[in-house]
Amino acid sequence: MSDNGYNNVNGGTTVDIELQNVVKSYRIGGRKVEILHGINHTIKGGEFVSIMGPSGSGKTTLMNLIGMLDHPSSGSILLDDIDITKKPQKELVDFRRRTAGFVFQQFHLIPSLTAYENVALPLVFAGDKKQDSVTEAMERVGLSHRIGHKPNELSGGEQQRVAIARALVMKPKILLADEPTGALDGKTGAMILSLLRSLAGEMTVVMVTHNRELGAQSDRVINLLDGKIIE
Ligand SMILES: Nc1ncnc2c1ncn2[C@@H]1O[C@H](COP(=O)(O)OP(=O)(O)OP(=O)(O)O)[C@@H](O)[C@H]1O
Ligand SMILES: [Mg+2]
Repeated sequence: MSDNGYNNVNGGTTVDIELQNVVKSYRIGGRKVEILHGINHTIKGGEFVSIMGPSGSGKTTLMNLIGMLDHPSSGSILLDDIDITKKPQKELVDFRRRTAGFVFQQFHLIPSLTAYENVALPLVFAGDKKQDSVTEAMERVGLSHRIGHKPNELSGGEQQRVAIARALVMKPKILLADEPTGALDGKTGAMILSLLRSLAGEMTVVMVTHNRELGAQSDRVINLLDGKIIE
Protein backbone atom coordinates (compact mmCIF):
# COMPACT_ATOMS: atom_id res chain seq x y z
CA MET A 1 0.00 0.00 0.00
CA SER A 2 1.19 3.51 -0.75
CA ASP A 3 0.78 6.41 1.66
CA ASN A 4 -2.54 7.38 0.11
CA GLY A 5 -3.92 3.94 0.98
CA TYR A 6 -4.06 2.94 -2.64
CA ASN A 7 -2.46 -0.21 -4.00
CA ASN A 8 -0.27 1.03 -6.81
CA VAL A 9 0.27 -1.12 -9.87
CA ASN A 10 3.99 -1.09 -9.34
CA GLY A 11 4.67 1.10 -6.35
CA GLY A 12 5.01 4.15 -8.59
CA THR A 13 2.61 7.00 -9.10
CA THR A 14 1.95 6.56 -12.83
CA VAL A 15 2.19 3.64 -15.25
CA ASP A 16 3.49 3.27 -18.77
CA ILE A 17 1.11 1.56 -21.20
CA GLU A 18 2.98 -0.63 -23.65
CA LEU A 19 1.12 -2.20 -26.56
CA GLN A 20 3.04 -5.05 -28.18
CA ASN A 21 1.75 -6.32 -31.50
CA VAL A 22 -1.86 -5.98 -30.37
CA VAL A 23 -4.35 -7.61 -32.73
CA LYS A 24 -8.12 -7.57 -32.25
CA SER A 25 -10.49 -9.54 -34.41
CA TYR A 26 -14.20 -10.07 -34.11
CA ARG A 27 -16.13 -13.02 -35.42
CA ILE A 28 -19.00 -11.61 -37.45
CA GLY A 29 -21.45 -14.15 -38.92
CA GLY A 30 -18.86 -16.95 -38.85
CA ARG A 31 -16.24 -14.73 -40.51
CA LYS A 32 -13.22 -13.37 -38.67
CA VAL A 33 -12.74 -9.65 -39.19
CA GLU A 34 -9.50 -8.08 -37.98
CA ILE A 35 -10.07 -4.60 -36.53
CA LEU A 36 -6.66 -3.75 -34.99
CA HIS A 37 -3.71 -5.00 -37.02
CA GLY A 38 -0.74 -5.38 -34.71
CA ILE A 39 -0.41 -2.14 -32.73
CA ASN A 40 3.01 -1.37 -31.26
CA HIS A 41 3.07 1.73 -29.13
CA THR A 42 4.07 3.09 -25.73
CA ILE A 43 2.22 5.75 -23.77
CA LYS A 44 4.41 7.11 -20.99
CA GLY A 45 3.15 7.31 -17.42
CA GLY A 46 1.53 10.69 -16.79
CA GLU A 47 1.19 11.54 -20.47
CA PHE A 48 -1.99 13.11 -21.84
CA VAL A 49 -2.58 11.60 -25.27
CA SER A 50 -5.50 11.87 -27.62
CA ILE A 51 -6.50 9.21 -30.10
CA MET A 52 -7.95 10.58 -33.31
CA GLY A 53 -9.18 8.89 -36.44
CA PRO A 54 -12.24 8.31 -38.60
CA SER A 55 -15.34 6.53 -37.34
CA GLY A 56 -14.73 2.78 -37.35
CA SER A 57 -10.93 3.08 -37.25
CA GLY A 58 -10.80 1.17 -33.94
CA LYS A 59 -10.46 3.94 -31.33
CA THR A 60 -13.02 2.58 -28.88
CA THR A 61 -11.78 -0.97 -29.48
CA LEU A 62 -8.27 0.13 -28.50
CA MET A 63 -9.52 2.02 -25.42
CA ASN A 64 -11.47 -1.05 -24.30
CA LEU A 65 -8.34 -3.19 -24.56
CA ILE A 66 -6.24 -0.71 -22.57
CA GLY A 67 -9.06 -0.44 -20.03
CA MET A 68 -9.27 -4.23 -19.66
CA LEU A 69 -12.92 -4.28 -20.72
CA ASP A 70 -11.96 -6.61 -23.57
CA HIS A 71 -9.08 -8.94 -24.46
CA PRO A 72 -6.83 -8.69 -27.52
CA SER A 73 -6.92 -11.64 -29.93
CA SER A 74 -3.12 -11.72 -29.74
CA GLY A 75 -0.28 -9.57 -28.54
CA SER A 76 0.44 -8.13 -25.10
CA ILE A 77 -0.51 -5.04 -23.14
CA LEU A 78 1.84 -4.12 -20.33
CA LEU A 79 1.07 -1.67 -17.55
CA ASP A 80 4.60 -1.08 -16.31
CA ASP A 81 5.79 -4.68 -16.13
CA ILE A 82 2.39 -6.28 -15.57
CA ASP A 83 1.05 -8.07 -18.65
CA ILE A 84 -2.72 -7.62 -18.31
CA THR A 85 -3.38 -10.13 -21.09
CA LYS A 86 -1.91 -12.82 -18.83
CA LYS A 87 -3.85 -11.90 -15.70
CA PRO A 88 -6.46 -14.45 -14.59
CA GLN A 89 -10.01 -13.12 -15.08
CA LYS A 90 -10.81 -13.30 -11.38
CA GLU A 91 -7.90 -10.99 -10.53
CA LEU A 92 -8.56 -8.72 -13.46
CA VAL A 93 -11.89 -7.34 -12.23
CA ASP A 94 -10.42 -5.96 -9.02
CA PHE A 95 -7.21 -4.86 -10.75
CA ARG A 96 -9.20 -2.95 -13.38
CA ARG A 97 -11.32 -1.27 -10.72
CA ARG A 98 -8.19 0.02 -8.96
CA THR A 99 -6.25 0.91 -12.08
CA ALA A 100 -8.53 2.40 -14.72
CA GLY A 101 -11.21 5.09 -14.60
CA PHE A 102 -13.65 5.56 -17.48
CA VAL A 103 -15.43 8.61 -18.85
CA PHE A 104 -17.93 8.39 -21.71
CA GLN A 105 -19.56 10.76 -24.17
CA GLN A 106 -23.03 10.29 -22.63
CA PHE A 107 -21.88 10.50 -18.96
CA HIS A 108 -23.70 7.28 -17.97
CA LEU A 109 -24.84 8.57 -14.58
CA ILE A 110 -27.66 6.81 -12.74
CA PRO A 111 -30.63 9.22 -12.87
CA SER A 112 -32.19 8.20 -9.54
CA LEU A 113 -28.98 8.75 -7.57
CA THR A 114 -27.50 12.05 -6.38
CA ALA A 115 -24.13 13.26 -7.63
CA TYR A 116 -22.56 12.06 -4.38
CA GLU A 117 -24.14 8.61 -4.70
CA ASN A 118 -23.07 8.31 -8.34
CA VAL A 119 -19.48 9.14 -7.42
CA ALA A 120 -19.56 6.70 -4.48
CA LEU A 121 -20.74 3.76 -6.65
CA PRO A 122 -17.27 2.36 -7.52
CA LEU A 123 -16.45 2.27 -3.79
CA VAL A 124 -19.71 0.44 -3.10
CA PHE A 125 -18.89 -2.13 -5.79
CA ALA A 126 -15.37 -2.54 -4.40
CA GLY A 127 -16.83 -3.11 -0.91
CA ASP A 128 -14.94 -0.08 0.36
CA LYS A 129 -16.76 1.55 3.26
CA LYS A 130 -14.49 4.60 3.52
CA GLN A 131 -16.01 7.36 1.47
CA ASP A 132 -13.56 10.23 2.10
CA SER A 133 -12.42 10.05 -1.49
CA VAL A 134 -15.95 10.96 -2.70
CA THR A 135 -15.68 14.41 -1.15
CA GLU A 136 -12.12 14.72 -2.43
CA ALA A 137 -13.16 13.75 -6.00
CA MET A 138 -16.11 16.17 -5.94
CA GLU A 139 -13.76 18.95 -4.83
CA ARG A 140 -11.32 18.01 -7.56
CA VAL A 141 -13.92 18.64 -10.25
CA GLY A 142 -15.19 21.77 -8.51
CA LEU A 143 -18.63 20.42 -7.61
CA SER A 144 -18.65 20.32 -3.81
CA HIS A 145 -21.75 22.53 -3.91
CA ARG A 146 -23.69 20.06 -6.05
CA ILE A 147 -23.38 16.79 -4.12
CA GLY A 148 -27.11 16.47 -3.44
CA HIS A 149 -28.23 17.14 -7.01
CA LYS A 150 -29.62 14.44 -9.27
CA PRO A 151 -28.26 14.29 -12.85
CA ASN A 152 -31.38 16.00 -14.29
CA GLU A 153 -30.71 18.94 -11.95
CA LEU A 154 -27.23 19.43 -13.42
CA SER A 155 -25.98 20.95 -16.68
CA GLY A 156 -24.26 18.73 -19.26
CA GLY A 157 -20.84 20.01 -18.21
CA GLU A 158 -21.64 19.41 -14.54
CA GLN A 159 -22.86 15.89 -15.31
CA GLN A 160 -19.59 15.15 -17.09
CA ARG A 161 -17.66 16.53 -14.12
CA VAL A 162 -19.61 14.16 -11.84
CA ALA A 163 -18.70 11.33 -14.23
CA ILE A 164 -15.04 12.38 -14.01
CA ALA A 165 -15.27 12.46 -10.20
CA ARG A 166 -16.71 8.93 -10.31
CA ALA A 167 -13.76 7.87 -12.48
CA LEU A 168 -11.36 9.44 -9.95
CA VAL A 169 -12.84 8.04 -6.77
CA MET A 170 -10.77 4.83 -6.86
CA LYS A 171 -7.62 6.92 -7.53
CA PRO A 172 -6.87 5.30 -10.90
CA LYS A 173 -3.48 5.21 -12.60
CA ILE A 174 -5.07 5.54 -16.03
CA LEU A 175 -8.02 7.70 -17.04
CA LEU A 176 -9.72 6.66 -20.28
CA ALA A 177 -12.12 9.17 -21.81
CA ASP A 178 -13.97 8.19 -24.99
CA GLU A 179 -15.19 11.43 -26.60
CA PRO A 180 -15.75 13.15 -23.26
CA THR A 181 -16.71 16.43 -24.93
CA GLY A 182 -18.80 14.92 -27.74
CA ALA A 183 -22.13 15.82 -26.13
CA LEU A 184 -21.10 19.29 -24.95
CA ASP A 185 -20.94 22.75 -26.51
CA GLY A 186 -17.53 24.19 -27.39
CA LYS A 187 -17.01 26.28 -24.27
CA THR A 188 -18.07 23.49 -21.91
CA GLY A 189 -15.96 20.99 -23.86
CA ALA A 190 -12.92 23.25 -23.45
CA MET A 191 -13.54 23.33 -19.70
CA ILE A 192 -13.71 19.53 -19.52
CA LEU A 193 -10.51 19.35 -21.54
CA SER A 194 -8.66 21.63 -19.15
CA LEU A 195 -9.89 19.51 -16.25
CA LEU A 196 -8.47 16.39 -17.92
CA ARG A 197 -5.23 18.28 -18.59
CA SER A 198 -4.94 19.13 -14.92
CA LEU A 199 -5.22 15.43 -14.01
CA ALA A 200 -2.46 14.31 -16.39
CA GLY A 201 0.92 13.92 -14.75
CA GLU A 202 -0.75 12.51 -11.71
CA MET A 203 -2.22 9.77 -13.89
CA THR A 204 -1.98 8.76 -17.53
CA VAL A 205 -4.87 10.26 -19.52
CA VAL A 206 -5.99 8.74 -22.82
CA MET A 207 -8.77 10.59 -24.62
CA VAL A 208 -10.57 9.84 -27.88
CA THR A 209 -11.71 12.96 -29.70
CA HIS A 210 -12.93 14.01 -33.11
CA ASN A 211 -12.07 17.62 -32.31
CA ARG A 212 -8.66 18.63 -33.74
CA GLU A 213 -8.48 21.76 -31.61
CA LEU A 214 -8.99 19.79 -28.39
CA GLY A 215 -6.68 16.99 -29.58
CA ALA A 216 -3.94 19.57 -30.16
CA GLN A 217 -4.13 20.56 -26.50
CA SER A 218 -3.01 17.11 -25.34
CA ASP A 219 0.70 16.25 -25.11
CA ARG A 220 0.51 14.08 -28.20
CA VAL A 221 -1.96 12.85 -30.82
CA ILE A 222 -2.11 9.20 -31.86
CA ASN A 223 -3.65 8.93 -35.32
CA LEU A 224 -5.50 5.71 -35.98
CA LEU A 225 -6.49 4.72 -39.50
CA ASP A 226 -8.07 1.37 -40.40
CA GLY A 227 -6.78 -0.28 -37.24
CA LYS A 228 -3.20 0.96 -37.55
CA ILE A 229 -1.33 3.85 -35.98
CA ILE A 230 -0.04 6.22 -38.63
CA GLU A 231 2.99 8.33 -37.78
N1 LIG B 1 -18.30 -6.21 -30.56
C1 LIG B 1 -18.06 -6.06 -31.87
N2 LIG B 1 -18.36 -7.03 -32.74
C2 LIG B 1 -18.08 -6.90 -34.05
N3 LIG B 1 -17.51 -5.82 -34.59
C3 LIG B 1 -17.20 -4.80 -33.79
C4 LIG B 1 -17.45 -4.86 -32.38
N4 LIG B 1 -17.03 -3.70 -31.83
C5 LIG B 1 -16.55 -2.96 -32.85
N5 LIG B 1 -16.65 -3.61 -34.01
C6 LIG B 1 -16.20 -3.10 -35.32
O1 LIG B 1 -14.87 -2.67 -35.18
C7 LIG B 1 -14.64 -1.49 -35.95
C8 LIG B 1 -14.05 -0.42 -35.08
O2 LIG B 1 -15.01 -0.02 -34.12
P1 LIG B 1 -14.72 1.08 -33.01
O3 LIG B 1 -15.95 1.19 -32.19
O4 LIG B 1 -13.47 0.74 -32.30
O5 LIG B 1 -14.50 2.38 -33.91
P2 LIG B 1 -14.28 3.89 -33.47
O6 LIG B 1 -13.00 4.33 -34.09
O7 LIG B 1 -14.41 4.02 -31.99
O8 LIG B 1 -15.48 4.64 -34.20
P3 LIG B 1 -16.38 5.90 -33.73
O9 LIG B 1 -15.56 7.12 -34.01
O10 LIG B 1 -17.57 5.84 -34.61
O11 LIG B 1 -16.71 5.73 -32.29
C9 LIG B 1 -15.98 -1.11 -36.57
O12 LIG B 1 -15.98 -1.56 -37.90
C10 LIG B 1 -16.98 -1.88 -35.75
O13 LIG B 1 -18.10 -2.25 -36.50
MG1 LIG C 1 -15.77 4.96 -30.74
